Amino acid sequence: MKDVLTALRERCSTRGYTPEKLTETEVRTLLEAGLHAPTAINRREIHFTVLPGDHPLVAEIEEEKNRLRGLSDLPHNFCYEAPTVFLLSAEREFGWREVDAGIAAQSIALAAEAMGLGSLIIGCIADALHGEKRAYFEKALGFPESHSFVIAVAVGHRAVGKEPHTFDASEQTTRL
Ligand SMILES: Cc1cc2nc3c(=O)[nH]c(=O)nc-3n(C[C@H](O)[C@H](O)[C@H](O)COP(=O)(O)O)c2cc1C
Repeated sequence: MKDVLTALRERCSTRGYTPEKLTETEVRTLLEAGLHAPTAINRREIHFTVLPGDHPLVAEIEEEKNRLRGLSDLPHNFCYEAPTVFLLSAEREFGWREVDAGIAAQSIALAAEAMGLGSLIIGCIADALHGEKRAYFEKALGFPESHSFVIAVAVGHRAVGKEPHTFDASEQTTRL
């Protein structure tokens, strides 16, 4: 298991997975990583929907995304055929919903990295989940009634490699 600083340094977006499924223990550990994330005023408003990558709803979301964008015959679906996808929904009216969901998404991504797994944070399905099929998807995905989609995270065994993104820390403002 990687320590948290190593996981932070080595995490990068994975856009290609092997067909190997995650174990139930791995899925539970990732879900709990999301649940451990802090939330504003300890609201704990994030709801996690966990689906296998080959679930029919994943295909329906993909189809709706592509319909809205006028796309077809893409080589990968939105989760790049990852075996597991976490969809994070949050209370529509809560002002910190996106920050809270973002922290939880990164917690899942870092836990995946620590466990030797790849991950991808996914926002491109937001239009599909907020569009005309919104009510259908929200019910089918088990979101609480007050909730709507914020962000997703795909997790699986890496089939492709990528270097972590680069940055120049000296461009930041520090008064140390
Ligand atoms: C809020 C958010 C939404 C994102 N949505 C997508 C997405 O829909 N599809 C995708 O392939 N990558 C998505 N990404 C991944 C970013 O493209 C990626 O994090 C960025 O290019 C930096 O690369 P790295 O993750 O390898 O450091 C998203 C990342 C964030 C933080």
